[in-house]
Amino acid sequence: MAGYTLTVNGERYTLEVAQDMPLLWALRDVLGLIGTKFGCGIAQCGACTVHVDGAAMRSCSVPVSAVAGRSITTIEGLATNDALHPVQRAWIEVDVAQCGYCQAGQIMSAAALLASNPNPKDADIDAAMQGNYCRCGTYNRVRSAIKKAAAELAVEVTS
Ligand code: FES
Ligand code: FES
Repeated sequence: MAGYTLTVNGERYTLEVAQDMPLLWALRDVLGLIGTKFGCGIAQCGACTVHVDGAAMRSCSVPVSAVAGRSITTIEGLATNDALHPVQRAWIEVDVAQCGYCQAGQIMSAAALLASNPNPKDADIDAAMQGNYCRCGTYNRVRSAIKKAAAELAVEVTS
């Protein structure tokens, strides 16, 4: 056990956990942030995706010790000032979710994509989202929602 300080959704925490505890378990079991989901546990499905310093990362496969001092954003922290993130709004408008289990990971991957590439082409979307699996097959709606969010962000930038 050791103490690791990290910032999660803007709040600083010092967690007394084993150095090899996956970030996912720290978020869910220690901090109670259960929006981030466990799917495979081996970095293959994307259900556990969060942002670490703004980049998408699979929290099941990164130990807490590796993200000490860094800034983590989970699905609970994506909205700001009571306003949903454009990706979240697009997700609702397109009605992407079916069972919902994969959706936090999908949204976090999509938000990271648009932060680095606000006008992604289909190939960019496919590349960024290819590791986020959805057993309900919502892939077409995921792509539509990402395009909708990109369009909304473009309007925000120009207005
Ligand atoms: S639970 Fe982390 S990638 Fe599947
Ligand atoms: S919405 Fe059910 S697994 Fe993706």
